[in-house]
Amino acid sequence: MSDGGQRTRGPLGTALVIIPTYNEAENIRLIVGRVRAAVPEAHVLVADDNSPDGTGKTADELAAGDAHVHVLHRSGKEGLGAAYLAGFAWALARDYGVVVEMDADGSHRPEELPRLLTALAGADLVLGSRWVPGGRVVNWPKRREFLSRGGSTYARMVLGLPMRDVTGGYRAFRRETLEGLGLEAVASAGYCFQVDLARRAVRAGFRVVEVPITFVEREFGDSKMSRDILVEALWRVTQWGIEAQAAKLRPGRAAARRPTLTRPPSTRPCAPVP
Ligand code: GDD
Ligand code: MN
Repeated sequence: MSDGGQRTRGPLGTALVIIPTYNEAENIRLIVGRVRAAVPEAHVLVADDNSPDGTGKTADELAAGDAHVHVLHRSGKEGLGAAYLAGFAWALARDYGVVVEMDADGSHRPEELPRLLTALAGADLVLGSRWVPGGRVVNWPKRREFLSRGGSTYARMVLGLPMRDVTGGYRAFRRETLEGLGLEAVASAGYCFQVDLARRAVRAGFRVVEVPITFVEREFGDSKMSRDILVEALWRVTQWGIEAQAAKLRPGRAAARRPTLTRPPSTRPCAPVP
């Protein structure tokens, strides 16, 4: 966990739970109902990418009957990252104090949200984590668990991140945290969006806390994970790693870290012979 020092944190305001959807018709009623029951004071924003299966229409029906439910209709499938960025902008244009990310398929159990929000009282960002003690996954094929653990480990190593679950998508942000991440510069479209936000939070010095969760594989519909999403993640994480290394080696920063370079030339052990 990165520690952002002793920042004073204000009380948590109203939470907005953003649920990105693409073809989640069998899940949308269920998940919205569960969120509303688990945290009645929270609001929900469904960010739908014009799902061909009518998820957006069902979301509209839910919104028509509940003032706490909202829908953001997007024109087409642009990826999880793009949907969240649009949802964040929607939230920040309004009065929400907390923004939550949650999948539509029930993998992120709304009943665990109160625990995430409690942890946010002493943090800037809370990650629901599968890979800390107490966290687990249920019904995931071994192949998928291997991929996710491997992806998380690779990203942690290449980027030097302290948290265990850097790819997970069940998170709670304080409003101020989102405002401090430099979201306007985020280009990640797919699931690497989650890694992107995690590295930005650490780099900005925010206090990030992991809370164990039980991730339950979806019962209905299909995962949107694809080869393209994987390739983007691998490519971007590697690129960020190279950039981070290059930044460390830049002369200005190197001089600041290496006191030997500030010694007068005559005392340098390897001063060139004139
Ligand atoms: N609007 C929109 N647009 N929503 C999308 C898109 C998109 O292009 N792609 C996926 N989603 C939505 C899905 O409808 C679902 O609600 C959520 O994003 C997660 O998608 P899944 O397809 O269920 O993801 P997963 O179960 O394979 O992946 C899980 O693990 C990943 C790796 O740990 C998620 O928790 C990801 O967030 C996580 O990165
Ligand atoms: Mn899923």
